[in-house]
Amino acid sequence: MANQGDALRHWVRAKADAATREVLHQRLAGTRVMAVTSGKGGVGKSSLVLNLALALAERRQRVVILDADLGLANINIMLGYEPVYTLWDVVERRISLKEIVEEGPHGIHIIPGGSGITELARLDAVEIHHIIDAFQELEGDYDWLLIDTGAGIADSVLAFVLAADEALVVTNPEPTALADAYGLIKAVWEQDGKVALKLVVNRAATRDQGTRLGTRLADLAQKALGQPVEFLGQVTEDLVVARAVIKQEPFLTAYPHSDAAYDVKSLADRLLDRVPPPRRGGWGAFIRRLVEKWPRDVSPDPL
Ligand SMILES: Nc1ncnc2c1ncn2[C@@H]1O[C@H](COP(=O)(O)OP(=O)(O)OP(=O)(O)O)[C@@H](O)[C@H]1O
Ligand SMILES: [Mg+2]
Repeated sequence: MANQGDALRHWVRAKADAATREVLHQRLAGTRVMAVTSGKGGVGKSSLVLNLALALAERRQRVVILDADLGLANINIMLGYEPVYTLWDVVERRISLKEIVEEGPHGIHIIPGGSGITELARLDAVEIHHIIDAFQELEGDYDWLLIDTGAGIADSVLAFVLAADEALVVTNPEPTALADAYGLIKAVWEQDGKVALKLVVNRAATRDQGTRLGTRLADLAQKALGQPVEFLGQVTEDLVVARAVIKQEPFLTAYPHSDAAYDVKSLADRLLDRVPPPRRGGWGAFIRRLVEKWPRDVSPDPL
């Protein structure tokens, strides 16, 4: 009996050591910058970003979300709070990025982009340096930066995708959404082949349908465009997603045993299990690329 107990304890410790080693290894490699984007609007990016962030946090990852949808910043509404500051206060009032970061459930953090994003086009050299320094200050504090972008292939959306290490392209099973996802993948590769692309089919009627559509689209894009797209997985259509939005709570915490929560946790597992794409220089390099690629003609405030 004692031997069995010892063996079990030994096994548990070995597992825990391996998990800790893995977390440490990932931390040394720096923050993973992942843009979550879509060709068509309304396919579920914001829901996915928020709940994926929580699923990663449950797996001991330190996650920060950049709420970067220019028109409709949604993460704060989904969590039921009003941001005090946005990225613009970092530029304008020279406060640190740490001061504008909001704390969400399970220790996830949120950076409200707000007008700070749209104003990127107007920054002078001093302000650009300030914002790059502000981002660099947080280098090492997070394992993941997840960016909730707008939809479509406008330059202001593509800039986030092209500046990131990897992008998660979200679609749903509708032919229009699938066609727009393909269009987005093509637009990204026409500009830059360095971003690793992953695909998620959201609102699938069944897991089989999601897998079938996702694999087919990833294959098609790979064959036609000659670059790899990884089908990461699917999230089934689930009533709890809308219910959670109404409750202003993430479905992962409000309905942890739902199909949608199970699927998002599986996506998080896959992101952590598979070999990550090479990092492209961390936060500082990300924000530098973003400013460089940012279109100069975006109107200052779309609202
Ligand atoms: N798996 C799902 N099952 C059922 N409903 C879903 C699912 N995912 C998202 N939805 C619903 O789809 C709607 C749009 O979701 P969300 O706001 O996350 O999309 P979005 O891509 O961020 O939109 P936008 O392009 O406007 O930013 C919401 O009403 C949400 O409840
Ligand atoms: Mg959104």
